[in-house]
Amino acid sequence: MPISTPAPAYTPEVERLTRPLYERIRHVIPEAEWAVHAPLIAAINELKRDRNAVILAHNYQAPEIAWGVADYRGDSLGLAQHGAATAADVIVMCGVRFMAETAKIMSPGKTVLLPDYEAGCSLAASITAADVRRLRERYPGVPVVCYVNAYADVRAEVDICCTSANAVKVVESLGTDRVIFLPDGYLGRYVASKTKVEVILWEGACEVHERFTPQDIRDFRAGRPGVHVMAHPECPPEVLREADFVGSTSGMIRHIADERPKDVVLVTECSMSDNVAVEFPEINFVRPCNLCPHMKRITLAKILQSLETLSPAIEIAPAVAAGARRSMQRMLDIGRASTTD
Ligand code: 13P
Ligand code: SF4
Repeated sequence: MPISTPAPAYTPEVERLTRPLYERIRHVIPEAEWAVHAPLIAAINELKRDRNAVILAHNYQAPEIAWGVADYRGDSLGLAQHGAATAADVIVMCGVRFMAETAKIMSPGKTVLLPDYEAGCSLAASITAADVRRLRERYPGVPVVCYVNAYADVRAEVDICCTSANAVKVVESLGTDRVIFLPDGYLGRYVASKTKVEVILWEGACEVHERFTPQDIRDFRAGRPGVHVMAHPECPPEVLREADFVGSTSGMIRHIADERPKDVVLVTECSMSDNVAVEFPEINFVRPCNLCPHMKRITLAKILQSLETLSPAIEIAPAVAAGARRSMQRMLDIGRASTTD
């Protein structure tokens, strides 16, 4: 998307307005970089008030977004819950398209903006609504659980959604011997390892987490006795076996808050470590650098342009939205419970 508006300048007024924000995050953003971010942050925060907008950011967003402009930072479940509850007229989703769709599904009357419409996800791209219908024909009567990393038309076809924070609880809530779990094969395997319910898998994968290997974990541990290794359940099982803790991004944050380890490796997307380091400056984060190219499409300049133009706005056909709302609401009614807590 071309950025038409000239970039705002780093004036003494912008410096004054943004200084308290910078003091909080100075250990993860160099001062020279802040001079570029600060004018955009000041402009976004002003326009956000004028538009009665709320900015929601996934934990994988860059820290200048997560800490500079977001009103809420969280995992997919937290973003869904906040999107459903907000009183704002406009929701700006700093995340990927399935997350913006979630906000629109839960708040159909609101304007939901995704600053870059091309922000996709390899998991969401791995399955279509027709695939779900074929699975239902192949396994008649077996309920379909859908990880929320899927597009609205897929979620409209399934029985219930889940996130990485509540997947086991959702699977067990159905009271059946078997479930179909899609689209993440690795998360499905992780769920299967935690329940007696038989899990029929769809072999989608997250292009960020599937790249981690057991050797990576051993390399992180080398020369760092006592380092606490925490992995996201989208990683392959042989990687999870090497980890000290497995959980959703917010599950990792809660675990760090409870345990306060001295050295931590977060085996997940790169920006997560920066964002958690803002809250826990005393903890040393060894940073694995697997970036999500989709998450990184969202920038401050695009957020500003999106608020100025109120686009790209998410639209979902009413029948699809109604079907997806049913499977999302069924999940939200179950509430938050981590796969690991
Ligand atoms: P959670 O934040 O729900 O753990 O999801 C991770 C992820 O990959 C989202 O794209
Ligand atoms: Fe999708 Fe993986 Fe990126 Fe999350 S990190 S948006 S699951 S590709």
